[in-house]
This record gives sequence, structure tokens and C-alpha cells, in this order.
Amino acid sequence: MTSRGILLAGGSGSRLRPLTTVVSKQLLPIYDKPVIHYPLATLMLGGVRDILVITTPTELPRFRELLGTGEQWGIRLRYAVQPAPAGIAQALLIGEDFLAGGGGTLILGDNIFYGPGLGRQIATRIRENTGATVFLHPVRDPERYGVAELDEAGAIVRIEEKPARPASPLAVTGLYIYDAQVVELAKQLVPSARGELEITDLNNLYLRAGRLRGHVLARGTSWLDTGTPEAMLDAATFVSVIEKRQGLKVSCVEEVAFRLGYIDAAQLARLADGYRGSSYERYLRSLA
Ligand code: DAU
Repeated sequence: MTSRGILLAGGSGSRLRPLTTVVSKQLLPIYDKPVIHYPLATLMLGGVRDILVITTPTELPRFRELLGTGEQWGIRLRYAVQPAPAGIAQALLIGEDFLAGGGGTLILGDNIFYGPGLGRQIATRIRENTGATVFLHPVRDPERYGVAELDEAGAIVRIEEKPARPASPLAVTGLYIYDAQVVELAKQLVPSARGELEITDLNNLYLRAGRLRGHVLARGTSWLDTGTPEAMLDAATFVSVIEKRQGLKVSCVEEVAFRLGYIDAAQLARLADGYRGSSYERYLRSLA
């Protein structure tokens, strides 16, 4: 069975105004590529090649223009609209037909993951998932995120959304794997005090049923979000430092497609043609 993924790229971008007054947050740059390329590359690294991109009604044409059908990268991209930002968990309801009675991996369009063996970690968790799997990562400011509390054995006992007093430094990252029950459970959710279908409520339904697993990302992994101007600048600096030092790009979708064998050298060369005159073009040529 092909592994399906949902890439959620809606939202109002209110914390980034005026940057997001006329452009969606996920289309803004992080150093040398649009924000959305990062989570897309992460899904692809995890072996997810059938992906539903969910965005706002006004921005959908621009996402389609940027990403196309996915055929150029050996994947399949489909598109759906979220009429208003009514919560992350709504993505699973919008994706009901796409998921076709199966499970899937959800990633937030503004989350950046980078680290050794990341693709393998994700692919393994997808393969072994029963119920739901969340990926955890320690941060200095957990109160900004969903926060997981673990017992001595490392099992999740509680997830709280933006707690005033976090029980641990472990944030729940914007990458979630769900089994075939997900749509049925998402249908049970009611809007929270802030009027959203909360992803944390969905994860807590799995937790209460004893079907939620937490996977703490390996220590060498970096997880960055792009929710504020400072976070965007930090992420851009991070990517540029790594790329300049190593000469290797972070989350380059064309490279991922090539290295994973989704496309061949001739197809990669055609993609390079499309970026003529840029350093991105020279990078792609150097790979082939
Ligand atoms: O980044 C991980 C965090 O993402 C988790 O730790 C939290 O548990 C989870 O609630 C979420 O928190 P945020 O405060 O970052 O959520 P935010 O409302 O900023 O939405 C995250 C992304 O999802 C953002 O790029 C916009 C998009 N989004 C959000 C909502 C609510 C949508 O596309 N549609 C929506 O309805």
C-alpha cells in the first residue's frame, strides 16, 4: 500500500504580518527555498509519495504553480482547500476522501526537520505505527507548543496544548502518523476555547485509548519552526551555515527525489534547466 501524507499549509499567518498580508507564510523564503519545500522534503525522505496539500482558497493557485503535480519529482501531489483556519485536526476531515479509509502522515507546512537518519526514522515509524505516533523534541520554550509528559518507561501519559506550566521540555512537533481510525476520531472533536479543532485533542483521544506512541527525535536532530520573524531568521541562518560549510543543501526536494531514485539523472538535469542562472541550478547539476 502506498503511504499517504497530508501537508497542511493554510492558516492566517497573523504572527508574521505584514510579511503575510499578501503572501502565505509557507511561500516565504527560508534562505534559498520556500518554507513549504522543507516539510515536503521531509515527507519524501520518509517514503511518502502520495501527498495532499491543503491551503487557503486564495493561495491554492500559487501553491499549484510552485509545486505542480509532483510528477517532476516522482511523487503525486493533490490539492484541497481549508476555507478558514478552523484547526490543524480539520486537515484529517478535509483529507477524508484522499485517505480513502486508510491512515496517513500529517506534517505542518511551516515545520523544518533536519538530522541524521531522519528519513529512516520516519519511514520506520510509519511502517510500525499502530494507532498514532507523535515525534517529540526538547525545546527551551515548551509553553509555545503541545507538550508531552512521559512516565519512567518513556510512555506518554499526557499532552497539553500550550501549558502555562509545562510538565516537561518535550514539545510535540508538527509531524504525526495516524492509522485508519483517524477520520472517525477527528469527527468526534469539538472546537476548543479558541474555536479550533485541536490536534492535541485528537492525539489525546488516541492516548486515552492506549494507542498513542511518542518517539523522541535523536539528539542530533534539529527541529525549527517559522512562526515568528525571529524564528524565520534563525532558521535561515541555520540552513545557510550548514549549506555553506558542507556544500550540501538542506531539504532540497530535487536532490531527495534523485537520491531516493524517484527520478533519474536526465530528469534531474531537466529540473536544473528550469533554474537557469541560479546557484540552485549549479547545485543540481553537480549532483547528476
Ligand atoms: O509546530 C508544532 C505545534 O503546532 C505543536 O506543538 C502544537 O501542538 C500545535 O497546536 C501547533 O501549534 P501552533 O501554535 O504552531 O499552531 P498554528 O496555529 O501556528 O498552526 C501551525 C501551522 O498550521 C501554521 O503554519 C498554519 C497551519 N494551520 C493552522 C491552523 C490552526 C492551518 O493550515 N490551518 C489551521 O486551521
